[in-house]
Amino acid sequence: MNIIFLGAPGAGKGTQAEKVSAHCGIPTISTGAIIRTAIKTGTPMGLAAKAYAESGALVPDEIVIGIIKERLAEDDCKKGFILDGFPRTVVQAEALDRMGVRIDLVISIEVRDEVIVDRMSGRRCCEKCGASYHVKFNPSKDGVTCDKDGTVLSLRKDDKPEVVKERLETYHKQTEPIKAYYEAAGKLQTVDGEVSVDDVTAAVYSVIDGIH
Ligand code: AP5
Ligand code: ZN
Repeated sequence: MNIIFLGAPGAGKGTQAEKVSAHCGIPTISTGAIIRTAIKTGTPMGLAAKAYAESGALVPDEIVIGIIKERLAEDDCKKGFILDGFPRTVVQAEALDRMGVRIDLVISIEVRDEVIVDRMSGRRCCEKCGASYHVKFNPSKDGVTCDKDGTVLSLRKDDKPEVVKERLETYHKQTEPIKAYYEAAGKLQTVDGEVSVDDVTAAVYSVIDGIH
């Protein structure tokens, strides 16, 4: 099954993608995580993307489409995949169609902006595997390190309140229009993202079960 997780920054895409990924045994592809790794290791793509990502703007379509094309060609995507954070523009959604990639389901996690601003300040991330936790709503077992690999959790650079505000604006202007694109294709399902992490997961599974 090929699934897209859509939603505002901090809506819980990464959190849910990780659960579904483990449950269904299919990889999650997060363009945000790939970009952060490239920035950290200083690759040419990372250098090109840094200023955009760290200010809350989108990285240019051609860079991100190139990343996805390469990643989807890898063997582990053959049995299905989850896209977390891609597509982010109608141009990216059209590029995916042009690549001949079949999408079974697009799940939009709906959270109001004011809830997001509160959530982001408590997020803690694992730089190694990309897992995200929350000091209050979704803490790691010891509250300090990643449950999966023991890496000390840290704050993301783009989680500063002023950057979160920019990211929300970018989302409403450039990403939200793709909901209509997938609605027209009969692929869009929405879930309420303002309930507990486990309740969102239950809603996500019921949507996935509904298309079997
Ligand atoms: P990206 O990494 O994709 O960031 P994002 O979309 O802004 O999403 P986040 O990862 O911040 O949030 P999330 O929805 O995954 O939430 P999470 O599960 O962590 O992109 C970063 C940047 O890279 C972009 O700004 C852009 O520059 C660039 N980029 C990436 N893809 C691109 C593309 N395709 N095109 C162009 N540029 C691109 O949850 C958030 C917090 O809330 C966590 O602390 C979590 O524990 C907590 N939480 C989750 N669910 C709940 C719940 N139900 N109740 C309470 N707390 C919860
Ligand atoms: Zn980790």
